[in-house]
Amino acid sequence: MTVKPLQLIRERAWNGPWAHLPKNVADYPSMLSLEERKMLGWLTEHYFSGAGIVCDLGFYLGGSTISLADGLRRAGRTGKLIQAYDFYEIGPKGWEKHMASRGFEFPSDGNALPLVEKMTSDYADLITFNKGDFCQSPVPEAPIEICFVDISKSPELNDHIIKSYFSKLIPGQSIVVQQDYFFRAPPWDIATMEILSDYFEPLSFADINSAVFLNTKQIDDHAIEISSSKHFSKELFIEKIKAASRHFPFAVQRAQLYKALRAVQAGSNEVREKAWKNRFKIDEITAEEVYSAFDS
Ligand SMILES: C[S@@+](CC[C@H](N)C(=O)[O-])C[C@H]1O[C@@H](n2cnc3c(N)ncnc32)[C@H](O)[C@@H]1O
Repeated sequence: MTVKPLQLIRERAWNGPWAHLPKNVADYPSMLSLEERKMLGWLTEHYFSGAGIVCDLGFYLGGSTISLADGLRRAGRTGKLIQAYDFYEIGPKGWEKHMASRGFEFPSDGNALPLVEKMTSDYADLITFNKGDFCQSPVPEAPIEICFVDISKSPELNDHIIKSYFSKLIPGQSIVVQQDYFFRAPPWDIATMEILSDYFEPLSFADINSAVFLNTKQIDDHAIEISSSKHFSKELFIEKIKAASRHFPFAVQRAQLYKALRAVQAGSNEVREKAWKNRFKIDEITAEEVYSAFDS
């Protein structure tokens, strides 16, 4: 490939007419959009060098994992290169939404892992499943080259990701995908990447969900300390969401960041976790208020 891979990530090369989205990946039950699946498969097919492993943090029924695994397969990679983490639990609502029409039996104990193993069996040689609470799960010893984050659902989980996973990134090579960055916009995801702006470079995005970053500097004790949730406050979130809008200037991205900003502004420090969830209720916004909230 003559074009530098980082430039291709910036250009979202996974949307090119040459990009692959195999039918089994497109049809797989997942919360990810089709562009995100293409992006993950593109990263493992074209960017992954083998200098580290791939971590899939928050797997649900395996949509992110099969996307990552199929890219590795297309690139001819071998070995247990993917470490995937989740509770692997499914309730009747999730079953109805994602699995009802697929001809499997509902697992009455809620354990979705046997089902996930069956649905991803073509890629079993590439994946290690870690079932249970992520904070108690074994942390890989190997360096991490691609870290897909879809599990940062609380400040405590965010702390664990930075301390135990980001510290294993390879500066200048490793890619972090923050899946919730735009879609759910939990303020700690956005704040973390701004607080660690000496350690990460924003590179790209997929849809109004994922943001893609390059790790540029070793995550050390200082990085872990400054990004710790013990420093989180409403004022910090507001400052960092505003700062983040400089990297992501497209209207739809600004609209999503603005919703996160308004949700944080509406809540007190104590209720900040509830406040960001309330952003889903913010449906009427005007261009004027969005653009006046951020420096253009
Ligand atoms: C948005 S879903 C992941 C979607 C998935 N990437 C896909 O492709 O469909 C988030 C997942 O994080 C998992 N999760 C949240 N907190 C967790 C924890 N403390 N330990 C393990 N898994 C957790 C949930 O079980 C859920 O499946």
